[in-house]
Amino acid sequence: MFGAGAEFQNKTGYTRQSLRGRALDWEHKPPAFKRYENVGKVRLATPQVQGGMPLWETMQRRRSRREFEEAPLSLETLSQLIWATQGVTGVAGDTLFRTAPSAGGLFPIETYLVVNAVEGLERGLYHLFLPEWELEFLSAGNLGVPLARAALGQGMLSRAAVDFVWTAMVPRSAWKYEQRAYRYIYLDAGHICQNLYLACESLNLGCCAVGAFFDGEVNQILGVDGENEMAVYLAAVGKSVHS
Ligand SMILES: Cc1cc2nc3c(=O)[nH]c(=O)nc-3n(C[C@H](O)[C@H](O)[C@H](O)COP(=O)(O)O)c2cc1C
Repeated sequence: MFGAGAEFQNKTGYTRQSLRGRALDWEHKPPAFKRYENVGKVRLATPQVQGGMPLWETMQRRRSRREFEEAPLSLETLSQLIWATQGVTGVAGDTLFRTAPSAGGLFPIETYLVVNAVEGLERGLYHLFLPEWELEFLSAGNLGVPLARAALGQGMLSRAAVDFVWTAMVPRSAWKYEQRAYRYIYLDAGHICQNLYLACESLNLGCCAVGAFFDGEVNQILGVDGENEMAVYLAAVGKSVHS
């Protein structure tokens, strides 16, 4: 009656029967991190992990802000925002625990940045390689404009200092959760984006989540196949004209 969405919810639901007799194939566990070889690297700044705006006040003030000043962010500020979304806060074996939770500790979400205006960074597309706390420089150019076009013409993405684009490595989660992985991927992305919202608020920056985009076009901008890895969520960040 409700179409593909309802079917998805139905078919990815757990039942007592569906949970029986499943074992994990440890030999074929997908890699926990995506790494781009032979690209430029940018070391991120050490994050500040104490102080800042009190949590309750930050939550009280949080708002989606869509109008940005034409002012660049510093690399320190960008590093702080990235840390809020995916910063490592604990290590157990080869699992890097982070500021945001993840189903099964599998962390299927990858972070790409469309940098429009960040001091010391060339304009273009970057990817976070978390184990080394560095950005990989994938391509140069003004990608904010095509990204805005791909997001149903939402111009804030071209006016933001930086756009976060989150993808999901589907096999990383499906290895354990099979079709239910698709639910957890979206939940994981939501946690990450809320951390970004709160970090922006506490730094007096504007942030707006973006879920409306042409999937294929965003995947193409990133150079991902849309099946094994697919864009799931975006956010625009910049100095807010209203702060
Ligand atoms: C999953 C999701 C998708 C969203 N997509 C968009 C979007 O594409 N464009 C936009 O301007 N705002 C988007 N938003 C922001 C919402 O419009 C906003 O959160 C809502 O109006 C409530 O306002 P507040 O965030 O200021 O509390 C999205 C928010 C969420 C959680």
